[in-house]
Amino acid sequence: MKRILVIHGPNLQLLGERNPTVYGRVSLKAIDQSLRAQARRLKLQLEFLQSNHEGELVEAIGSAKGRCEGILINPAAYTHTSVAIRDALEAAGLPAVEVHLSNIYAREPFRHKSLMAPVVSGQIAGFGPQSYLLGLSALAGLLTSPRGKR
Ligand code: DQA
Repeated sequence: MKRILVIHGPNLQLLGERNPTVYGRVSLKAIDQSLRAQARRLKLQLEFLQSNHEGELVEAIGSAKGRCEGILINPAAYTHTSVAIRDALEAAGLPAVEVHLSNIYAREPFRHKSLMAPVVSGQIAGFGPQSYLLGLSALAGLLTSPRGKR
């Protein structure tokens, strides 16, 4: 079974309580449960990591190479700041889908730029918890029929 690393960046452990007008009331645990259910249908095996530490995220991405076939990532605030995570994704060279609960382009200007966007296969933003499910299904599609480049 193909293995996917699901990464949740900083503060996402607070989902459900944090800024619910932007992020909604669904907890991270509930998101992971719905991803697990979808993964069973797609015949994928998921591995989860939530971390508030940039270095831990970098190491997890590095160790995914050779062990996992793809990465589903919500880099959260690091989306806009982390060259280290961007470089780790590039170095891993795995198909990766970037997801965001909120539509980062409709928010503050500092959220409009994703450092990850140029090195991931694609990005899904603005659909709440559904962004993760859409992302996983996009990743499954890429794994069965890769597009030329990544
Ligand atoms: C987020 C958007 C980021 O700008 C923010 O820092 C987050 C969550 C999202 O899922 O909408 O923590 O990645």
